[in-house]
Amino acid sequence: METEKLWQQFKKKLAEVGDFEELEKLRVEFLGRKGKINQLFQKVTSLPPEKRKEFGQEVNRLKGKIQKAFLSRERKIKASLERNLTGKKIDISLPGKEVSLGHIHPITQMKWEVADIFQRMGFEVLEPQEVTTDYDNFTALNIPPDHPARDMWDTFWTKEGYIPITHTSSMQNWIYRHRHPPIRAVVIGRCFRNEATDMGHEHTFHQIEGVYVDKGITVANLIETMRVFFSEFFGKELRAKVRPSYFPFVEPGLELAIECVLCGGKGCSVCKQSGWLEILGCGQIHPRVLEEGGIDSKKYTGFAWGMGLERMIMLRMGIEDIRHFHSGDLRFIRKF
Ligand code: DAH
Repeated sequence: METEKLWQQFKKKLAEVGDFEELEKLRVEFLGRKGKINQLFQKVTSLPPEKRKEFGQEVNRLKGKIQKAFLSRERKIKASLERNLTGKKIDISLPGKEVSLGHIHPITQMKWEVADIFQRMGFEVLEPQEVTTDYDNFTALNIPPDHPARDMWDTFWTKEGYIPITHTSSMQNWIYRHRHPPIRAVVIGRCFRNEATDMGHEHTFHQIEGVYVDKGITVANLIETMRVFFSEFFGKELRAKVRPSYFPFVEPGLELAIECVLCGGKGCSVCKQSGWLEILGCGQIHPRVLEEGGIDSKKYTGFAWGMGLERMIMLRMGIEDIRHFHSGDLRFIRKF
């Protein structure tokens, strides 16, 4: 019998239905306007008149059975949705579970804070391009190929010869070419070094690069700018001093130290009893670097500096191991 066959077919399909979506599909297939039941009804006209009534009634009965089966199946799906995995009914009147929200990563918080301080001092804040050319990372900074100073940076190279930036100085040339003096710009971003990690070193870390180019800029401006920044960042008036150092893109190259923020200059284990913290490399921008950026070095001078963001956060927060920052350890992250 045709109706019996269809009923068996329907039951089989209904047993496989798992959710409302599948149930609705099945409903359309059987009870829809062009569904199987209506197709059967259409057959009535092709039957001899004496058989029409009986067949029509039969199809009607089947339709009723199918509708009932749908309803009961629908109720079952609903009920199973209302149960949770333990098989208990959900009490919808219970107070909800508190969702624990994440928060901004400490490095991002500090990036924003540093950016804010420099912006208030009149600097524009930029982000570096993270993968760049040999030219921008080295050559434009007075470090041509084969210059021994390249060994100062343990560099990663891509197969195509590009560099995940080893320092944010990589943005200097771009800045000189896209801005006109007076230039006051700060670059905050990630750097990458192919080196072993320890408490003080990470392969991925953040640097803050700064440049100031105008007529008559001297090292005195540099020291005072840095002193003001660190006093803001550490929340107390700090002294700053420089001593000679070497970086190919500055002349003279300097290392700037601030009064130890932990002992106030008295001497402690963090400053190795010296009372001073060497915190960044800096100097007067080398005339060649300015010229390479299209800036007339006879007319303009400037200073540049580069410092590690993590180191500063570690000093401010008393964190002893730089590797915590990227460890993904929530116990660490939640302290901020
Ligand atoms: N780029 C240097 C580094 O990563 C840091 C630095 C030193 C930047 C002196 C400067 C600078 O702009 O003048 O080691």
